[in-house]
Amino acid sequence: MLFRIVAVALIVIVGSIISVSSLRASEKEESVAVALTEYLLSARAVLATNQSLINDPDKGNKGFTADVYEQQVRLEFLRRTSADITKMADDAFGKALSEIHQSAKQVITEAQPLINQEGKGFKGFNPAAFGAKVGAALEKRSDIRIKQTSLKFRGAYNKPDEYETTILAKFVGGNKDQSHSEELTVDGKKVVRYMVPIYISKACLGCHGDPAGTVDVSGHKKEGYRDGDLRGAISVIVPVL
Ligand code: HEC
Repeated sequence: MLFRIVAVALIVIVGSIISVSSLRASEKEESVAVALTEYLLSARAVLATNQSLINDPDKGNKGFTADVYEQQVRLEFLRRTSADITKMADDAFGKALSEIHQSAKQVITEAQPLINQEGKGFKGFNPAAFGAKVGAALEKRSDIRIKQTSLKFRGAYNKPDEYETTILAKFVGGNKDQSHSEELTVDGKKVVRYMVPIYISKACLGCHGDPAGTVDVSGHKKEGYRDGDLRGAISVIVPVL
């Protein structure tokens, strides 16, 4: 079941030796980073599927509870990885995935008053905002960090650090299926850093497209991206034990 994730990680490692990375990442931590990224992408996809429901101003109780979210994210994550998020093993790998899943459920539970608010359309609860909250909730439970970042960031908490800025610049103009993985020593401690690019599709243009500088439904300035542009990345840091 988890074989595919390990296989994905191995492919990524092989890819990174040939291309961007100078160092071979630790295999175990890398498979955790790959799986957490797949989870965050699944979570974002579930949020996107429910976006019009969440934004419906005419409906009070949306029924989009943590349990409903779990049913949907379980299927999405199964599809992407063949692993069942509700049946994780009691090892470091399973623990990290259970923690991000519990974090996401907690965020959905805490957002219930916002989601169920009547008379309000756009509530600022979109995939990116959800992803950022999941990362913040995970930070309270674990030493693992996961965030969305961009060279043109909207939320200050999505601001890239120096390392992320360098890798984002490398992603520009590269293949759509690229990723970057590296084992580094930070303050004397070994970590695996893993990044996967996020691209603009047509569904994003209403808020992130043209004309640049005009305001979108969320009150932010549009960046003027085109379909297929690099939007940013998911960035994960996993301590090597
Ligand atoms: C309804 C408007 C809307 C749509 C549609 C939308 N976004 Fe966003 N996006 C936002 C807002 C608002 C933020 C800032 C969220 C926050 O972190 O508070 C954001 C932030 C992001 C971020 C985090 C980096 C940053 O700028 O802070 C990424 C990555 C992102 N969006 C990708 C996408 C992608 C990819 C799509 C299409 C699949 C998309 N967005 C569609 C409104 C939107």
